[in-house]
Amino acid sequence: MKDIERAHLSWDDWDELHDPRPEDTEFDAVVASAMSRRGFLGRVLAMGSGAAVMGTGLLNSTSAQAATTRFAFTPIPIATDFTIHVPEGYNWAPVAKWGDALFSDAPDFDAVTGVTPQGQARAIGENTDGMELFNVGGRQVIAVNHEYANTGTNLPRTGGEVTSLEDVTLLQNAQGVAVFEVAEGPDGWQIVVDSDLNRRITHTTPMTLTGPAAGHDLLKTGADPEGLTVLGTLNNCGAGKTPWGTYLTCEENFNGYFGSTDARFERSDAFARYGIGLEGRYAYEKFDARFDLSQTPNEPNRFGYIVEIDPADPTSTPVKHTALGRFKHENAACAVAPDGRVVVYMGDDERGEFMYKYVSDGVYTPGGDTSDLLVNGQLYAARFNDDGRGEWIALTPEATGMDAAEIAIHTRIAASAVGATTMDRPEWVAVNPVAVEGYCALTNNKNRAVKANAGGDDTPVNGPNPRAENTYGQIVRWYPEGDNHAAVDFTWDLYVMAGNPSVHGDAYAGSDNVNVGNMFNSPDGMMFDSSGLLWIQTDGDDSNEDGFAGMGNNQMLVGDPVTGQIERFMTGPNGSEVTGITWSSDRRTAFVGIQHPKAPFPDGEGSLARSTIVAIKRDDNAVIG
Ligand code: FEO
Ligand code: CA
Ligand code: CA
Repeated sequence: MKDIERAHLSWDDWDELHDPRPEDTEFDAVVASAMSRRGFLGRVLAMGSGAAVMGTGLLNSTSAQAATTRFAFTPIPIATDFTIHVPEGYNWAPVAKWGDALFSDAPDFDAVTGVTPQGQARAIGENTDGMELFNVGGRQVIAVNHEYANTGTNLPRTGGEVTSLEDVTLLQNAQGVAVFEVAEGPDGWQIVVDSDLNRRITHTTPMTLTGPAAGHDLLKTGADPEGLTVLGTLNNCGAGKTPWGTYLTCEENFNGYFGSTDARFERSDAFARYGIGLEGRYAYEKFDARFDLSQTPNEPNRFGYIVEIDPADPTSTPVKHTALGRFKHENAACAVAPDGRVVVYMGDDERGEFMYKYVSDGVYTPGGDTSDLLVNGQLYAARFNDDGRGEWIALTPEATGMDAAEIAIHTRIAASAVGATTMDRPEWVAVNPVAVEGYCALTNNKNRAVKANAGGDDTPVNGPNPRAENTYGQIVRWYPEGDNHAAVDFTWDLYVMAGNPSVHGDAYAGSDNVNVGNMFNSPDGMMFDSSGLLWIQTDGDDSNEDGFAGMGNNQMLVGDPVTGQIERFMTGPNGSEVTGITWSSDRRTAFVGIQHPKAPFPDGEGSLARSTIVAIKRDDNAVIG
């Protein structure tokens, strides 16, 4: 397969190339008897206390709308065009586009040829994803992930093929993280070029390792014999913000950057579990020995972590925290327990993988020393029971048969060992700021009840993942026991099951808070605003055909956790994913990311497509979140 063809696959389809679905499986009988929608609801009602809570969360939308709505906008219809739509009384404008200069020495973006390899390290990267805004001494500073590259867009000079080390350098500089100051003037929000807070972090930026795996033999390489220093961060997807004001960037599909120039390289079971194969997605291994498994076999063990970055200090060294585990990290949602311990909720975005949380040993004190809080703590994996209860299972040496370093490096294997619940691709986790509850977007899982995960764990339908061959996704919610995010016990329900009520009459129609006016598929990005409304972004099938007819382009909706009401706020350009949202300090602007749009977004005919962060405001400049 050519580089450009590989680059156009979604990450999960790319993984499937290495781990294809069987033609026919023993689970097909389960698929054939997928429960009816009536059956789903009946089963939920039989689930007891957790289900009783669920009932309150799934009011049908008609009655929810009849009640007083908390939404200060008129919901918008779907769109299938190549631009953005927001409700009447709101407006949007680009703030930062792929290739925009962060420093005045960066060459101007060329509409036809894009960026230069060296210029890319001084400019906004590709594929904006998770982001957070920081108030640094009154200045507005955005930290944003640049998740991956689209070789067809980013390497127009070669037609999308990766032909040289120079091409690899361009791609390595197009990804990672950007930290940059923005300011609002008469022409709206703009990048503060040459701000002393601006910074690019790429696939080659030095960073240090902490936690149980730091210095372990599996993390040692020829270039780093101590196993304590890594170059770069890979596939930065969702993000998080610590209570002490640092940025957490999450390494997701890191496996795809490695390959072997020697076809005889034998991958370990652990590499197989993590989807590490012989052919990388960007051919890095052909030009950069660090990504060649036959030359640097431990390099992949140094990725798949959460990295902490101080946006207030552009000279600081980013820190990879192995205590938070190694998997395809989607994002990191922080909470503080009543006793001050820090809790970080995390999802592993792969079909049939798990949800996790970390609880610090030490307690957070505003203004106190925070350097140990993501270094020493306990990692847990989630087990959901069908009765509406669940527990966080500690990944200890006793429970897993692995030592602390092995648990940190091969976290998936540890979670399988304790019987964690296989999930439908956990994407973003969000913690409600006005209620003690967490939410996780389970985006979809075509393999549910079809195929085991890569560790051999069967994936039958289960409580929070109730539909075989789940193409629509759902959002699971949990309530920690004792209103304590550090507690091991919780109850749970489904906030919403996405679906298509105009096509299906069974569980695939979705829950009762889904209707023909608000339907969507594949919830992914998710963030609460300060008032406790849940902003939901989608990354799904935008064909608007067949089972997805009536859903249109990827979009952003707003959900009321109390009534269950969900309404559409924004639609993105066709072909794009809407991902990443953060607010200005005065909450009068929401910054939202448009990832991998098709041309001509946003610059018009004749220009390469550009992933873009846009500012959304109300025309009357009122608070919007
Ligand atoms: Fe990068 Fe799972 O989204
Ligand atoms: Ca995502
Ligand atoms: Ca996704």
